[in-house]
Amino acid sequence: MSPSRLSRRHFAQVLGGTLGAWALASRATQAGAWAVPAAQRHANLPAGAVRIDSNENPYGPSPKALEAMSRSQRISARYPDALEDEVTAALAALHHVDPDQVILGCGSGEVLRMADMAFLSPGKNVVVAEPTFEAVLAFARVTRADPIKVPLTSDYRHDLVRMAAACNSATGLVYLCNPNNPTGTIVRKDEMVTFFQRVPKETVILVDEAYFHFVEDERYASAFEWMEKYPNLLVVRTFSKIYGLAGMRLGYGAGSKEFISAMRPHRIWSNANAAVLEAALASLADTGNVARCRRAMNATRRALRAEMEKDRHATIPSEANFVMINVGSDVEPIIAALRERYVLVGRKFPSLPTWLRVSMGTPEEMQQFVAALREVVPPRPVRARLL
Ligand SMILES: Cc1ncc(COP(=O)(O)O)c(C=O)c1O
Repeated sequence: MSPSRLSRRHFAQVLGGTLGAWALASRATQAGAWAVPAAQRHANLPAGAVRIDSNENPYGPSPKALEAMSRSQRISARYPDALEDEVTAALAALHHVDPDQVILGCGSGEVLRMADMAFLSPGKNVVVAEPTFEAVLAFARVTRADPIKVPLTSDYRHDLVRMAAACNSATGLVYLCNPNNPTGTIVRKDEMVTFFQRVPKETVILVDEAYFHFVEDERYASAFEWMEKYPNLLVVRTFSKIYGLAGMRLGYGAGSKEFISAMRPHRIWSNANAAVLEAALASLADTGNVARCRRAMNATRRALRAEMEKDRHATIPSEANFVMINVGSDVEPIIAALRERYVLVGRKFPSLPTWLRVSMGTPEEMQQFVAALREVVPPRPVRARLL
């Protein structure tokens, strides 16, 4: 079915009385001036395609960041050193650290790579959860460090007891993705402290907080709270998620001066462009936009989980802008069938082969997703088991 046929009326028919479930999310999105979906461009896909595959912000950047980026055209002939310093200082102030404890990256992906390059080498190992965001292990292959994968617990959370036990004197890095991609589950603050105490002091504890801004669970806290007490902490954040700047590329890491100095030689000079640096300053200042985006995407996630519950598809409670849905069979053909309907969802995670990772789009996009999913995977009969 072409997206043009996936009209609102079509969804109203398909979803019957269920449209109400999206009302809250829809209202939340109307609250800001930014209720226009981000532009959709992808090879071989029509303009109306639904892209809920990469955990982005469907509303795009803050209007103030957009304005700042157009202003940056005036300085585009100059290297952005001064702006880099300004953004670094702003981030240091935000996190109560010194500017030389902060490093910028071309996306947080580059920061993860710098950490691998600085702290891993042949004979060392890197401890990660399975499944988690793959970048740390992917980059670690170059360093020829040994990967140690620790399966998630039965409730899809980091198994911190086993992860701590897996660390030894050869562990260069242990990676906590909090909230975890792809499950959206969190490491709670009480668990985190016990973990910090158990990990050898020489091991770098890399906490990836790409989805920090979406978390509502009060048992969660940023690892920044413990940075002074545990100097082996390195925290990584990105402007790609809540700030809606995935296409512009900016992320950062913060840790001890020693860690940041060890990473710096692996950084490309001027790895952040003038436009994204201007956008970052405007985005950090626009806290109202962050709150609106969080509200909207979290409301959408709740509405989606409610829809999935009606179809008796289990979901993993998520604190991020995506959710895992158990479709009960291999997700690969399902991902392909959804793509044929111009709905792009997340890739398959081999250790969770029946779970589909779905990012939050606008409520309208999620209605298109639900309708397409119901064509591809009929709702389960009432007595089917959830898991
Ligand atoms: C947990 C996590 N960390 C880091 C990244 C990398 O993001 P970026 O390089 O755009 O900052 C992603 C991207 O999806 C992610 O999910």
